[in-house]
Amino acid sequence: MSLHLAPLQEAWLAEIGVDAQWLARLRPASIADGQPREVEAPRPSAVPPPAVAVETVPAPAVRAPRAPEPRRVRPEAPKAPATVADVSGLDDLPAVADRIRECEVCALHVGRSHAVPGAGCEQAPEYLIVGEMPGVEDDLAGEPFQGAVGVLLRAMLASAGVAEDRVFMTNVIRCRPAGGRSPSADEVASCLPYLQRQISILRPQRILALGRLAAQALLGSRASLAGLRGHEQHYRTADGADIPVWVTHHPASLLLRPSYKAEAWRDLMAMVSVHN
Ligand code: URA
Repeated sequence: MSLHLAPLQEAWLAEIGVDAQWLARLRPASIADGQPREVEAPRPSAVPPPAVAVETVPAPAVRAPRAPEPRRVRPEAPKAPATVADVSGLDDLPAVADRIRECEVCALHVGRSHAVPGAGCEQAPEYLIVGEMPGVEDDLAGEPFQGAVGVLLRAMLASAGVAEDRVFMTNVIRCRPAGGRSPSADEVASCLPYLQRQISILRPQRILALGRLAAQALLGSRASLAGLRGHEQHYRTADGADIPVWVTHHPASLLLRPSYKAEAWRDLMAMVSVHN
């Protein structure tokens, strides 16, 4: 297979230990030839297991285990339902962005420098990239994916042949939580209507969810990242449009665990090949 790779693609592939000769081998069979890969069933062993001599040994005196103490369950105070963003009357992206910038629905607005509505191709983008929340640089700039995570994300997209001008980037959470802590379930619920409204307006051809938080929020699922990766998922807009969703590792986690980069690359290749 002869491949022509751009320098950015080559850099990314070299980083994950893939050279041009490896590409054909690393690509899943389902991508390479459209056929699902067959997994060979384990063969029964020809050698019978060795006979085990069973000795009868008098059992040592064992103290009866103590019955576990009954767990004390504190009655939970009834939880107030999360207050959620109101997106009624927001019919275009600038209107959604303005509402996000002035949003004070949850406490996260107190610590922000800027809310981050999202950026990129606004006319029927081919891809909507959904991250988790703004990083430090994003909070300062008011734009998503500005720091090292963004550099890696752009290299990943370029390696998969996804042009940046066909992409809109956004997040589930629009204001960076103090210290970059994980947002609470209520904070996710408060912010989610903004993402849902952006999807309805943008109508991207497909969505790439980065990391577990983004995937679970988008798909309304509690499945693990491993359970959501590797096959096409679906997002349904309020007016019934069905948009394919692909899930992969968050680039921030790839910076911490570079060994996952090959899996991320396979996820991207699966996403672009299925639809091309
Ligand atoms: N920057 C973003 O905009 N989103 C992320 O998920 C991480 C960094």
